[in-house]
Order: sequence, then C-alpha cells, then structure tokens
Amino acid sequence: MKQHPTITHFASYEEMSKAAAKLVTHYVFKTNANLALPTGGTPIGMYKELVEKNLDWANVRTFNLDEYYPINIDSQQSYYYYMYENLFSTLKNHQSPQISFPHAYYDNHISSAGGLDLAVIGVGNNGHIAFNEPGSEPNSETRIVKLDKQTIEDNARFFDSIEDVPTHSITMGISTIFKAREILILAQGKSKLEILKKGLWNKETKDIPVSWLRKHRNLKVFYCD
Ligand code: F6R
Repeated sequence: MKQHPTITHFASYEEMSKAAAKLVTHYVFKTNANLALPTGGTPIGMYKELVEKNLDWANVRTFNLDEYYPINIDSQQSYYYYMYENLFSTLKNHQSPQISFPHAYYDNHISSAGGLDLAVIGVGNNGHIAFNEPGSEPNSETRIVKLDKQTIEDNARFFDSIEDVPTHSITMGISTIFKAREILILAQGKSKLEILKKGLWNKETKDIPVSWLRKHRNLKVFYCD
C-alpha cells in the first residue's frame, strides 16, 4: 500500500497548468460532470488553458469552493467576479443555472446534484483548503468562517489595503470536499511544498487542514516551484 500521497513535480507553471486543464477536460467531456473550482493565483494558468480549448461545457455544473462574506459580488475582489473574468464569461454553454457559489444549503444542493466528480483545490500557506482554516474539523460542511490572520495577509495583495480584506468567508467544508470522487490539489512555490509535505506525509491534524485529505482514495497533487 502507498505510504503517502505522491506529490507530482512539474518543471514549470505552464506544464502544471496544462496537466490540470487536461484532467478537467476529461470531466468536461463526461455527461453531467460536477466540478468544484478554486480561485486565487495558482489556478489562473489552468483557466487560461481551458479557455483556449474552447470546449462545450453544456454537461458541466460548477460549484465554487468559497466566497468572501459579506462581499458585493460585483466588486473586483469577489470570487464571483474572478470566475466570470477568468473562465465563465468565455465558456461555451455554461450559463448561470450551471454555476453555483456557497450558500446555506450548499451540501444538500451538491448531493442532490449527484455529488462532486472532481474538486480542484489550492492550498494556503497555512495549510487551509478552500477557507477551512487551521482548527477545521474533518466533518465540517459549508459554513461561514473567520479568516486566519495569515490568509488575510496573503490575500491583501488583491486589495488596496489589508484593512479592505473581508474578515469572513463562506466555504465548503472539509467533508464536502472529501466526498468528491476525485481531488486535485494545485500548488506553486516552496512554502506550499513544505506545508503539503507536513500535511500529507504525516498524521492528520486539524492544525493543517489539507492533512484531512491524506487518505482520500483518488487524490492527485500537482506542484511546481
Ligand atoms: C480560493 C481558495 C483558497 C486558495 C488558497 C491558495 O478559492 O479556496 O484556498 O486556493 O488560498 O491561493 P493562491 O493560489 O492564491 O496561493
């Protein structure tokens, strides 16, 4: 039996993004595929590749991992805005009924849609997945959470000043993500590699939320420097 999840190193960000887009493409061709999607800096390359492929997304439903709370969805910092800007507005046959963002009944919504086929996620420097910050339990579902100090500092780069970063978000839970039939983690940079190794190559701990994914039976981890 495998001791711990393999971390696949790619020679460049471009190669990692291409490989991630290839995996997503496989699901786009499937009937009724349900995808969980991340925002942030890391998946931008994957979204660029997907836009270039110009696929038909008619069979796909997407469920975003998280959103700031509260946030005006028209503001440039909202994850809603990010998704339309980087992906949704250019996709063929991907309309608003196929697009979901976290809300109070998200877990029921996802399970009645048939569950997630693939969850593409990033990881925070503190080991968070979606906005499940350190301290998150493995049975957590979609909920409003307080953002960690480290997350607020990391995300300040997307705002005019750190004071503008919302203090809370609504996020899928660890159990929501774990139930996905396949999970792909995307990570770039040495500090992410460090937290991935700490989390995935040791015993599970709520101090490093990504560690809860260690025993998922269909987990891929893509990394580049
Ligand atoms: C965003 C999300 C976060 C990010 C993580 C890494 O939807 O769920 O967990 O994936 O904070 O962000 P980047 O890619 O900007 O380093």
